[in-house]
Amino acid sequence: MSRSVKKIRVGILISGRGSNMTALIEACARPEYPASVALVISNKPDAAGLEVARQAGCPTLAIDHRPFGKDRAAHEHVIDAALREAGVQVVCLAGYMRLLTPFLTQAWSGRMLNIHPSLLPDFPGLHTHERAIEAGKRQHGCTIHLVTEEMDEGPVLAQASVNVLPGDTPDDLAARVLKEEHRLYPEALDTFIRTHFPES
Ligand code: GRF
Repeated sequence: MSRSVKKIRVGILISGRGSNMTALIEACARPEYPASVALVISNKPDAAGLEVARQAGCPTLAIDHRPFGKDRAAHEHVIDAALREAGVQVVCLAGYMRLLTPFLTQAWSGRMLNIHPSLLPDFPGLHTHERAIEAGKRQHGCTIHLVTEEMDEGPVLAQASVNVLPGDTPDDLAARVLKEEHRLYPEALDTFIRTHFPES
């Protein structure tokens, strides 16, 4: 018989296809998994992941960044209010392609996770797969880390490695890493919650 768990309410921020979000939604559907998806927010109203989340029965919100112009923090205040309204306890960035201001990183300090497609501290930022190939790396991978004020920094919670194979294109490598991302994010969130919310 599976143990019943008190599920921690997770908010997921996306900007695109949301395949990592999907991996988290699928994990949260398992009765013994210690989290549920309380809300999915996209800064892009046409993000494919929003429809995927809706189909899975998750509450969704599009909070378009464009009306806020250069005022990133004003956009984040609306996101923060929506997360709190939904009773979110932990935030997972999953392909959320906006730089965060100190407002949001401080508001969720120690409670916001990100997935990055490299073995940090190698290759923060974009085009990580191209850069790993160009640098002649034999190993590449992905990292789950706590979000701090600096982009793609913050304490590492988990990493997974893949081999870089001779002749790999960036797309080949991205596909190999993505498979690991989908395994690693739910696993790292599970461990994070069991460590930080022992009552779950
Ligand atoms: C992933 O590679 C993730 O590591 C990075 O952006 C990509 C998002 O993909 N942060 P998806 O939207 O989760 O499919």
